[in-house]
Amino acid sequence: MSEKRKKITIPHINEMKRRGEKISFLTAYDYPTALLEDRAGIELILVGDSAAMCLLGHETTLPITMDEMITLSSAVTRATQYAFVIGDMPYMSYQPSNEVAVQNAGRFMAEAGVDAVKLEGGVRMVDRISAITNGGIPVMGHIGLTPQSYTQQGGLRSQGKDVESALQLIRDAEAIEAAGAFALLIEAVPAEVAELIKERVSIPVLSIGAGGACDGQLLIVHDILGLFEAFTPRFVRRYANLSEIMSEAFTSYRDEVRSGAFPGQEHQYPISEEEIGALRSSLEWSEKTAVKVQTRTA
Ligand code: KIV
Repeated sequence: MSEKRKKITIPHINEMKRRGEKISFLTAYDYPTALLEDRAGIELILVGDSAAMCLLGHETTLPITMDEMITLSSAVTRATQYAFVIGDMPYMSYQPSNEVAVQNAGRFMAEAGVDAVKLEGGVRMVDRISAITNGGIPVMGHIGLTPQSYTQQGGLRSQGKDVESALQLIRDAEAIEAAGAFALLIEAVPAEVAELIKERVSIPVLSIGAGGACDGQLLIVHDILGLFEAFTPRFVRRYANLSEIMSEAFTSYRDEVRSGAFPGQEHQYPISEEEIGALRSSLEWSEKTAVKVQTRTA
């Protein structure tokens, strides 16, 4: 897409929902990936704390820090002209208090230039969501499987599969909307439950593993490109196998370096015959002179 497109805004996202146009949503953690997503016309980009696992090799999302998230988010916002960029608030950047939450959400806006932040949790997080939105910062809520609470949830497991937990998700969604969130993300919840939630709130509802009735779909970019090997959630569809393509490229490079096939003539900087000849003569002369001096002083 080369034509200049208007940057996506919250009214635009609401309009897409109103018209029933599905919203495409992907994670990105770096400049080149965000550039390509933006060019492809992806409307929402999440700089997810999943970077802890997909990019930095941690076993959970918990170890990633605010400073790391700011660095990654800045790279993404430098790359995007069209997409609406959401910074994912990392573990313990909002849980301790409203003040901590507002300060860290403010860092995402001021230092990284994101358009909004996302945080995990329902009813128990409404004070944080109100405090941040009252500070003028748009918030996306996130319910269902919330990886920062994986120990409480008994692992990275789907949620809302019985009446009681599904009712709790509905209460969470309603509370998040009432607290002022501009959108809601539902992760790993049965499609029927997500649809019931969508019918009960008026803000856009995005799904990652919550079925096709939602207003848009999120996937993790490393999952769709085949770059995350530790496990593949049920909700992932793989659109490319970059692991295979990259591995083939790395092996070919190693083989060509070993055999001398790389670098070729075309990868080397030219120098004229005259200059290299003069350089060789100059070196021969100075090396001969140095030998004579050494012989005389020995
Ligand atoms: O960090 C992330 O990518 C997320 C999604 C899994 C929802 O929060």
